[in-house]
Amino acid sequence: MMIPPFDVASCRLPEDMEILLLGETGSTNDEARALGKSGAREGTVVVAERQTSGRGRRGAAWVCPAGEALAFSILLRPPEPKPLWPRLALAAGLAVAEALDSFGVEAGVKWPNDVWVRSRKICGILVEADADFVVIGVGINVNTGAFPENLEDIATSLFIETGATHLREDVLSGVLFRLGVRRRQIGADFPDLLRSLSERCVLTGKRISLLTAAGRKEGLMEGFAPGGELWIRTEAGQETIIQADEVRILS
Ligand code: BTN
Repeated sequence: MMIPPFDVASCRLPEDMEILLLGETGSTNDEARALGKSGAREGTVVVAERQTSGRGRRGAAWVCPAGEALAFSILLRPPEPKPLWPRLALAAGLAVAEALDSFGVEAGVKWPNDVWVRSRKICGILVEADADFVVIGVGINVNTGAFPENLEDIATSLFIETGATHLREDVLSGVLFRLGVRRRQIGADFPDLLRSLSERCVLTGKRISLLTAAGRKEGLMEGFAPGGELWIRTEAGQETIIQADEVRILS
């Protein structure tokens, strides 16, 4: 499959964003963080053709085959109070899912911010905050034709879902425009964001199992608390889950 190199000039962008394209880097999150520390403007988007040590959540590695995947990080300096910044993780997952719909898939969000198509992961997001900025790192499987055996049942790509290759510039552009809208909803408009997220969340109304700081829990996912936490109905009653790993759908 011939995938053209990323072409910055043909990538439409919101007015307040600009792209820095790198051929190869360790991790675009690390690049964006270094830029943030040296005072780079908010809205800088670091895109890499190839990451040699891409990072996922919980210290996992994130592998992006050159050219096939879209790997980028956005530097933001949110005006909202810092305790609200973690909501950007939800805004980012929702923005990616909304953008992917226009490529002919039905994308859902697996709280907090994996994006799924047909119960398979198509995008992972890693949000890292520093003193006065946030980096939102996004990896989207765009033109990946096949995954290694250990991933083929749990990962997918736009190419696998639609049978066509897609320009990564178009995917990036779609995500940045949606993020431009959703990132501004982490304050007063957060209930709007949560309503949309609730409709898109693949966990809503499902029995789920998750690993919390207090141990493994099972329950019915009933919706979101006002701060974006999960509400689950367990045998003990309704519980609010702030953070969890290994979130699984049981039925
Ligand atoms: C996850 O699902 O575990 C999160 C994966 C995040 C991967 C992206 S790729 C661009 C950016 N740079 C990184 O090193 N990680 C994020």
